[in-house]
Formats: sequence, C-alpha cells, structure tokens
Amino acid sequence: MPGRRVVFLGPPGAGKGTQAKRVVDALGLLHLSTGDLLRDEVARKTALGAEAKGAMDRGELVPDKLILDMIRGRFASATKGFLLDGFPRTVAQAEALEEITELDEVVSIDLSREEVVRRLTSRRVCRACGAIYNLTFNLSADGAKCAACGGELYQRDDDRPAVIENRFDVYESSTAPLIAFYRKRGLLHSVNGELGSDKVFAEIMRILTAA
Ligand code: AP5
Ligand code: MG
Repeated sequence: MPGRRVVFLGPPGAGKGTQAKRVVDALGLLHLSTGDLLRDEVARKTALGAEAKGAMDRGELVPDKLILDMIRGRFASATKGFLLDGFPRTVAQAEALEEITELDEVVSIDLSREEVVRRLTSRRVCRACGAIYNLTFNLSADGAKCAACGGELYQRDDDRPAVIENRFDVYESSTAPLIAFYRKRGLLHSVNGELGSDKVFAEIMRILTAA
C-alpha cells in the first residue's frame, strides 16, 4: 500500500481529531477515527451503536472484538495511506492491527490531565460536518453555529467532568502501554500537545514528511 500508514496516540482531548483533519487534508490519507465511527453508529441507532453506547457514556473502552469487527474492512479503501485516530487503544488491538497491516509512524500527542479537563469541558463539535471547536478560542461569532457549514454545535455526552476524569484514567491504564509497545518497534514519535494547534501541526508534518 503506498502512502503513509500512521497512528495517533494520546489522551482524550490531546488534539488527535483536530490534527487528523489537517494532516489527512495535507497528505491525502484516509482518516479512520473509531470514536467518530462509534458515534455515527449510536446516532443511527444501529445494534452496534446500542452495544457501544453504555461504555462510551461511562468513558470506558468498547470491547476489542466489536472495535476490530468495525474497523477491519476499512483499510481496503486506503489506497493513499491512512491515519488511525483513537485506534489501537489496547495492546490486544495493537497486536490485531499488526496482523492487518504494517505501520510507518506512530505519533503520540502528549497532554497533562489538567489541560485535558480544561479543553474537553469547553469543546463543541459540529453535528453536520464534525468540525471541532473550543469555547475559549475558535467559536464563530454567535457561538452556536459551525463557521464552516452553519451546522448546529453540540457538546459530546462524554465531555462531562466525571467522565473526562475516567477517560483519562482508562487512557493511562489501557492505552499508555502502547507508547512502550511502539517505541520497542522503532515507530514512536512524541509531540508536545500543550503547544498551539499550528505548532503541533508543523511538528507532526515534519515527522511525517521526513524521509
Ligand atoms: P474518541 O472519540 O476517540 O475520544 P478520545 O480519545 O477520548 O479523544 P477525543 O476525541 O475526546 O479528543 P481528541 O484527542 O480528538 O481532541 P480534539 O482534537 O477533539 O473515543 C470516544 C469513546 O469511544 C471512548 O471513550 C471509547 O468508549 C470509545 N472508543 C473509541 N475508540 C475505541 C477503541 N479503539 N477501543 C475501545 N473503545 C473505543 O481536541 C479537544 C479540544 O481541544 C477541542 O475543543 C479543540 O478545539 C481543542 N484543541 C485541540 N488542539 C488544541 C491546541 N493545540 N491548543 C488548544 N486547544 C486545542
Ligand atoms: Mg477525537
């Protein structure tokens, strides 16, 4: 498969979705966000969505098998490469991914718990196009409509303080071990997610376009 095969790691709110949108536009990659795919299943009231919703609302992980069944068939259309956002999230998922495809780069976007809570309590998302906003810096003039498409902005069900804390705990116990997993394979790059969005983007592009 030509193109870059990229994974974004990082705690909730680190900026994975924000940077993924910019990077896939710049490099022509397929963006695969398991969180976005799951929220779409929930919105369409599918059986998969019904099975996943409870865990998502509590900030727990959805079972590995359900995630793997959902994502496995999607790589075929990634002819120019892909960017995985929010997957893999457990060692079992990472091992299963190794059976599906090789990877070129894993980028871990790092952010402190305090900044995660601050960013996620003030996040808003466009229901129509998925654009990501924050009340503190990039809302459109009236603060209720998407600046890109005019769609309604909403707050995710899992962006409540208690759930955010649990998501961070789950990240530390289940997903952070993937940092060592990918470092061992020589694929890991770390980026300081505390920087402004443009600086984080520039650093990720430097990593992904290096020979
Ligand atoms: P998912 O949707 O993947 O959520 P997450 O990992 O918790 O990450 P977020 O989407 O909350 O944050 P983000 O890093 O994308 O940050 P964003 O760019 O929006 O998963 C949701 C749930 O689905 C999970 O809890 C689980 O239940 C389930 N799930 C999904 N995948 C799974 C899997 N593989 N296995 C099992 N279960 C799974 O930015 C956040 C905010 O910060 C925004 O307001 C943004 O404007 C702002 N911001 C971004 N960058 C900057 C910056 N540099 N400076 C200042 N503000 C910034
Ligand atoms: Mg996201």
